[in-house]
Amino acid sequence: MTAIVETETGPVEAGAIPSFTVTLRIMRFDPENHGPDPYWDEFDVDVHGTDRVLDALHKIKWEQDGSLTFRRSCAHGICGSDAMRINGRNRLACKTLLKDINPNKPITVEPIKGLPVIKDLVVDMEPFFASYREIMPFLIVNDGKHPSAERHQSPEQRERYDDTTKCILCAACTSSCPVFWTDGQYFGPAAIVNAHRFIFDSRDQGATQRLEVLNDKEGVWRCRTTFNCTEACPRGIEVTRAIQEVKRAMITRAF
Ligand code: SF4
Ligand code: F3S
Ligand code: FES
Repeated sequence: MTAIVETETGPVEAGAIPSFTVTLRIMRFDPENHGPDPYWDEFDVDVHGTDRVLDALHKIKWEQDGSLTFRRSCAHGICGSDAMRINGRNRLACKTLLKDINPNKPITVEPIKGLPVIKDLVVDMEPFFASYREIMPFLIVNDGKHPSAERHQSPEQRERYDDTTKCILCAACTSSCPVFWTDGQYFGPAAIVNAHRFIFDSRDQGATQRLEVLNDKEGVWRCRTTFNCTEACPRGIEVTRAIQEVKRAMITRAF
């Protein structure tokens, strides 16, 4: 059976889409087999305009160099595991079409910045998740009562934190923040976005605890409103705005 592919002009047979060659310039790091320093490696790959950077990485791994290491799972922009720097910008490899990033020049692919690189494009996410855990990313209800019915919420109350529920914890924001790059101590935008998601949830009673955590010297006050995080977010979350709202809540204690 012939595979059908959706294109900008409608569905066509996969074989009818012209292929072309792109060069991927990938930052490699393999201390066990290649010494302690990162190095650049180049691969030419035959691709179609409908292919994404993730497809090109798969082709390299499956057909040219099985040792190339990167994370991915869903391949559809949901799991958040394949954030990387593509032509100097943080993006999800599975959501970045090759035709949208000038395939006529070599495409650079590097690991996200500010987190320790383990191998090639795989970074150690533990410092990122440690900050996430600190803001207590779960509903806190302190009234000691077992509810006899659902905890109701109006559409307006739900709307208050709707934007920050979209986070997929990809770290594209935190690893694009120059404050995080300086020493990796700053909680980072992703942790604050996820704190926002609960601070402004009308059912939650842990806002004060979370604001105390983020009032730390490595907390929200380190944000310099650079907006890199907002530009990097693949989910279109207004990250800087959420940070500003958390700062305001800290001052007014109104949430
Ligand atoms: Fe990724 Fe956006 Fe969540 Fe940051 S806020 S972790 S960029 S989804
Ligand atoms: Fe960093 Fe975003 Fe603030 S990039 S400085 S967290 S606005
Ligand atoms: Fe899941 Fe890209 S592989 S978001």
